[in-house]
Amino acid sequence: MATNPPPSHSHEVAERIEKRWAMVVIAIVTVLVAMVIFTGLNWAMMPPSRVETVRPETLHVSGEFIESNLGSAVEADGSVTVRIVAQQYSFTPQCLLVPADTPITFRATSSDVVHGFLITNTNINSMLEPGYISTFKTTFNKPGDHLMPCHEYCGVGHQGMWAHVRVIDKSAFMQMAAGLPANSRRLSCVK
Ligand code: CUA
Repeated sequence: MATNPPPSHSHEVAERIEKRWAMVVIAIVTVLVAMVIFTGLNWAMMPPSRVETVRPETLHVSGEFIESNLGSAVEADGSVTVRIVAQQYSFTPQCLLVPADTPITFRATSSDVVHGFLITNTNINSMLEPGYISTFKTTFNKPGDHLMPCHEYCGVGHQGMWAHVRVIDKSAFMQMAAGLPANSRRLSCVK
């Protein structure tokens, strides 16, 4: 009978093991919460890395994302800012024109639902959410073409939603930018 303990004893064993596992779970949760607090305070790591908001209802009417302001613009410091709007089921502009060897800042948002923003052969891979502006910085080191597919399921037309990024020689780009009349549309490679 020594190998078969009475029921009351097995109940105590089960209770002890349950308590032990409860302590393990509490310890894990405590470590995770401590990590969130530590990274948040010390590395300024917050779940949404940037919170810059915009009203999706009035994107096309006023402000930074009106249609004439979409595309590539040369800044005073020589860098280039590219503004993009995603909507079911296309990007505006459909073909982004950028110079090589130049710091590029993409500023993008969505006018309807969540879309994906990915440029092949780069580390740009993010989401575009209505109401928020997503900002990414990169430099393309050589001319070439990149695909820019939407990679967040956004509805029945999702698989047909993609754009191009055309990287051209810096001097050719700057020449095109300098030749633009004042108050004209931004540069893009939309035909
Ligand atoms: Cu837009 Cu998928």
